[in-house]
Amino acid sequence: MTAQPQRTLLVTSALPYANGAPHLGHMVEYIQTDIWVRFQRLRGHDVLFIWANDAHGTPIMLKARQEGIAPEALIARIGVEQKRDFDAFDISYDNFHTTHSDENREITYEIYRRLAAAGHIRRETIVQAYDEQAKMFLPDRYVRGTCPRCGALDQYGDSCEVCGATYTPADLVNPISVVSGTAPVQRESEHLFFKLGDFEAMLREWTGGDRLQPAVAAKLGEWFTAGLRDWDISRDAPYFGFEIPGEKDKFFYVWLDAPIGYLSSLLQYCRRTGRDFDHYWRPDSGAEVYHFIGKDIVYFHTLFWPAVLAGAGYRAPTAVYAHGFLTVNGQKMSKSRGTLIGAKAWLEHLPAEYLRYYFASRLADGIDDLDLNLDDFIAKVNSDIVGKLVNIASRCAGFIARGSGGRLAGQLADPALQEEFVAAGARIAALYEGRDLAGAVREVMALTDRANLYIDQQKPWLVAKDPARAAEVQAVCTQGLNLFRILALYLKPVMPRLAAGAEQFLALEPLRWADAATPLLGTTIEAYAPLATRVDPAAVRSLLDASAETLKPAGAPMTAASTAPATKPAAEPQPPPAAAVDGAPVTISIDEFGKVDLRIARIDSAERVDGADKLLRLGVDLGDLGRRIIFAGIRSAYEPEQLVGRLTVVVANLAPRKMRFGTSEGMVLAAGPGGKDIFVLAPDAGATPGMKVK
Ligand code: 2FM
Ligand code: ZN
Repeated sequence: MTAQPQRTLLVTSALPYANGAPHLGHMVEYIQTDIWVRFQRLRGHDVLFIWANDAHGTPIMLKARQEGIAPEALIARIGVEQKRDFDAFDISYDNFHTTHSDENREITYEIYRRLAAAGHIRRETIVQAYDEQAKMFLPDRYVRGTCPRCGALDQYGDSCEVCGATYTPADLVNPISVVSGTAPVQRESEHLFFKLGDFEAMLREWTGGDRLQPAVAAKLGEWFTAGLRDWDISRDAPYFGFEIPGEKDKFFYVWLDAPIGYLSSLLQYCRRTGRDFDHYWRPDSGAEVYHFIGKDIVYFHTLFWPAVLAGAGYRAPTAVYAHGFLTVNGQKMSKSRGTLIGAKAWLEHLPAEYLRYYFASRLADGIDDLDLNLDDFIAKVNSDIVGKLVNIASRCAGFIARGSGGRLAGQLADPALQEEFVAAGARIAALYEGRDLAGAVREVMALTDRANLYIDQQKPWLVAKDPARAAEVQAVCTQGLNLFRILALYLKPVMPRLAAGAEQFLALEPLRWADAATPLLGTTIEAYAPLATRVDPAAVRSLLDASAETLKPAGAPMTAASTAPATKPAAEPQPPPAAAVDGAPVTISIDEFGKVDLRIARIDSAERVDGADKLLRLGVDLGDLGRRIIFAGIRSAYEPEQLVGRLTVVVANLAPRKMRFGTSEGMVLAAGPGGKDIFVLAPDAGATPGMKVK
């Protein structure tokens, strides 16, 4: 192998929002980045993996408000959870900072100052949805209403999930602010815009090379054709972010300072370690800068970001690499289906390293979505890792331990075979370098099959029966263990723990890529302990059960909470969410909750409903509000006669719902997982029909 000149690389993953713990959709990117980073380090390059959380913006401000804590406290808490999960998945970042930091403020201000001084900022008065009750301007996703094109109810203010129409919140029919539940008004405000068009020539040139994947470059071509629009970089108070110097009650839009986090986290790292920050970001820098991102945030990273950097006198990234979204068992990740699996939940049931392996086996260099098929996951790990790879070591170890006191032979039995394995290293390295992780894994597995075939053919278990052939057994098993050592090395970026186990068993210093060329001969190895164990399908089932359980809305199957619009903690920008997640937490403001009219009711009749084996038809007395008919899905838990005469709580102002059997004029509150375990809520004695529940 020819020695490579040492390169200096700065690598980043996208900065996760500081409003929730990571789930497997996030982990795809971090595992992909980490494998690439580990590969580069193994090759002897000087690599920094620099990272942070993305702390600003409306969703984080509102979430902190809902929790009754300062945004800083929320960010700090989520940061701890993020680092906990990233560490457990062996994501080998060098620094994890936050964008709500002094360093980020410092660089953001400097970049803004330089952009403004060079004339790249302009002002424009815009009209925007404003919530008079919450006293705030509303990002598009915080307005919901009826789609102006197809009439679908409860759609976001920027696009319709039913017909795909895109529009502005002002176009919605019956718009409602998800913050207060009131109808927004249109209000003017002066905003600051970054003149993206100033950078068209630079961007065309920058995006023209091989910095981008073909699919991404094609998308950019469309954007250029459509014309580059100036970018609104300011937001009005209240907003959680950095105040814009020289302006009153104006803040930088989160997406301006988010990528600046790539610089500011590095700055923090350099100040701590004495490294040279400028070496990475000055225009003539010899370093390489790579951003790994999801395909939904390509616009920000391939247009705004390089333009902002160029406008402020910094270098642009060497390349931006996008990946697709994760599906689970072929489905978009979804809370309601129990397929939104938290990173922490995974760790509680299954080894992190097996997910790393599976993702690697599914990740090529394009932007296609990838599927975590859990049956395939079990089969693949059990077959590839346990059945084939680790099997090589376990088949050979015993003979070396028993037959030659743990000592490897002084020479290889089949140097040509060894040479094949060494030569494959160049191909595998090229695949890692080009982020075709699936290709690299395939090559390693083909070699693994080859190694097992060698042992099958040599049959050391038969040869060992003849004491006179002990040297032969030692040579064959030394060969087998040398092949295993190379395989563990080639897979080390993906499975660092397995590689560490192999290094310990073979009594080696940490393996580097170049070590493949030198066989391990004449040394003494340690006793073999299993390096991997099979995935138990029951563990996967309990992971799915646990995910479904923690995600079930409280009070299922009958929850009254859905009368208010769901607030998706969406990124402010418009593209689809990073991990194709739907059904994010349903939260409502106190004002929205105040709109739910909860009343004490006396059930004065209850009867089965022909043709509906889950329902009971209840007649309820609401005092002054009169009598209502409510269809309740509680038949599995109650005989009608058990209910008559009981007091309970109902939602009295739910819009009547026409059902096949009649109209339901409210909702009875009940709790429990379902079946026999449904419990109609019962107030203490003393409550009387019609009383308001507060
Ligand atoms: O889409 C997201 O999750 C953003 N928090 C990513 C930001 S990446 C960078 F620009 F900071
Ligand atoms: Zn529509």
